[in-house]
Amino acid sequence: MSVSRVLGIETSCDETAASVVERAADGSGRIISDVVLSQLEEHSVYGGVVPEIAARAHVEALDTLIAEALHRADMTLDDIDAIAATSGPGLIGGLLVGLMTGKAISMATGKPLYAINHLEGHALTARLTDGLAFPYLLLLVSGGHTQLILVKGVGDYERWGTTIDDALGEAFDKTAKLLGLPYPGGPAVEKAARDGNPERFMFPRPLVGEARLDFSFSGLKTAVRQAAESIAPISDQDIADICASFQNAVSRTMRDRIGRGLQRFKERFPEAADRALVVAGGVAANRELRETLQEISDKNRFRFIAPPMALCTDNAAMIAWAGLERMAEGFGPDDLTVAPRSRWPLDHNAQSLLGSGKRGAKA
Ligand code: KG4
Ligand code: ZN
Repeated sequence: MSVSRVLGIETSCDETAASVVERAADGSGRIISDVVLSQLEEHSVYGGVVPEIAARAHVEALDTLIAEALHRADMTLDDIDAIAATSGPGLIGGLLVGLMTGKAISMATGKPLYAINHLEGHALTARLTDGLAFPYLLLLVSGGHTQLILVKGVGDYERWGTTIDDALGEAFDKTAKLLGLPYPGGPAVEKAARDGNPERFMFPRPLVGEARLDFSFSGLKTAVRQAAESIAPISDQDIADICASFQNAVSRTMRDRIGRGLQRFKERFPEAADRALVVAGGVAANRELRETLQEISDKNRFRFIAPPMALCTDNAAMIAWAGLERMAEGFGPDDLTVAPRSRWPLDHNAQSLLGSGKRGAKA
């Protein structure tokens, strides 16, 4: 069989998604269909993702989305070789919905099931979009994760850095909330920052200068609150200045942290001809962050790869692709007794840092 096709299912957070992806024998991939339903509207009134609402919304939408993904691919389940469903990390209610659906399709069709780690989906996306070879560095920056990961192979990861408190997206969301900006905060902060003075407030740059590659953003959020309180009542210009100064502090922090990561990669793989830094997660939409990552990559002679935004944020194509990669490596399939896991680190040797991923829900 020269081409394999997998149906992917993603329900770990607030996006319900289904996709059909194929992989040729030469390792190249093609997305045949990719449908995503965001629950943003359901959650925005609460200023964050509500697990119960999320699980219910997945139940209501998933069957239709799978049918739509197959329809857009002009295929039936007969044309699919396997099913890949996210089984962690994430919100347990949503994971149950997706994994049980995957199991049911597997049982009904007799096709194998791959239980996929959501983070592995993010980690391998650049091989689908850019045919990237191992090893490379991945920066995952979303609402629930801030991790720098060495991707050595399928199922072979080293976590080089993680946040010891808030995720970067969470810091954007909390900053927005403090300033009365809408949820999700990232786009709102970025927009407000356009008219602001990035030098007006000198916010902390946590861990800058330290050799370890971890991140910390909760002090930044506290500094934002103190700044806002000290000049209350705040005007629109104040908000713009705070947002611009916040982004400036984030950029400088990331420049230092990621710069050290690239350096470590060079020391570890002095022979690597094609060095690459890949970014994933919703915060990858931030222009200033992208520019910073591009700049630091250029400086260190790394290729900077930012997949299209639809593949940076949560989607099922990356889950289907991870299934295809596992299949090609002869890993799995999984037994139908496999259980969802709300916590599931990619790197089994990585220690759980105090407070990291405490929201534990989003990846
Ligand atoms: O990956 P994602 O869509 O969802 C999960 O976390 O699973 O990431 C969402 C996060 C939110 O915290 C949101 O505020 C942030 O990404 N975000 C941004 C931008 N767009 C989304 N942060 C900074 N700048 C943006 N333009
Ligand atoms: Zn994710």
